[in-house]
Amino acid sequence: MDYETILFEKDGAIATVTINRPKVLNALNRATLEDLDRCFQAIADDPAIRVVILTGAGEKSFVAGADIAYMQHLNPLQAREFATLGQKVMNAIEQLDRPVIAAVNGFALGGGCELALACDIRIAGENARFGQPEVGLGVIPGFAGTQRLPRLIGKGYACELLFSGDIIDAGEAARIGLVNRTVPREQLMSSCREMAGRIAARGPIAVRLCKDAVNNGIEMDLGRACRYEADLFAMCFSSPQQQEGMKAFTEKRPPLFDSD
Ligand code: CAA
Repeated sequence: MDYETILFEKDGAIATVTINRPKVLNALNRATLEDLDRCFQAIADDPAIRVVILTGAGEKSFVAGADIAYMQHLNPLQAREFATLGQKVMNAIEQLDRPVIAAVNGFALGGGCELALACDIRIAGENARFGQPEVGLGVIPGFAGTQRLPRLIGKGYACELLFSGDIIDAGEAARIGLVNRTVPREQLMSSCREMAGRIAARGPIAVRLCKDAVNNGIEMDLGRACRYEADLFAMCFSSPQQQEGMKAFTEKRPPLFDSD
């Protein structure tokens, strides 16, 4: 499939999506959000893909935010429509039934930080910078940053970032749990591919149901969430992958998980 503003590559079970507007530090305009929407729909329809890596083109930026030039003249109705489109894309990434790793290769600001937040795992190059600078532009985050940030790092740190618009480096982002880890910039993609490869080698149905249990369970009270987990645990036992995984263990060999 052809896209105007993103690149899509598939290498075995691992897909890489690269936001490709380096001249504007990969800022998200309508076309980019629509490309991402179509791309994640195509990924959802392709069972051969087990893990997705999301990154930005160029050396400097993951995504420096929603496109300010595009947003500058929006009226309130158009602004709501733009936020709704952005949120639709973030939700599609979060709800994709396979893991998505953000390879944060530079600025992840505003909508770029929100995009990273929608991913399941965030690995940052040492040059990465994070922040929600919207208040400096006289607006608030519109792609669910006010919601996902406190859920991920807690209300205190989230409020500090949201109210101050401060930009923090990769080390601070790791310290407050905004990213899983930082790696030297030149090792970013290889580290993400290595992690994606390890995930892709696990039982794909089990990985999928883990994501389901985490994402849906986190919105429930603990009792309901535990019952939900038990339902999904039981579901694993109707799959040949459970048979294979446990048989391989008893036979002291690595499991071989075919695509489901
Ligand atoms: N939108 C549109 N264009 C952007 C952009 C953005 N978010 N971020 C950078 N650019 C453009 C710049 O305008 C510049 O274009 P020109 O060469 O045509 O002038 C180009 O990218 C390079 O940027 P800089 O020259 O500014 O690069 P720098 O290294 O000096 O600074 C930066 C880098 C600190 C990231 C700076 O570009 C910056 O502050 N960008 C804006 C960050 C921001 O405020 N993001 C939040 C946007 S609001 C939002 O995202 C709302 C939401 O939640 C939906």
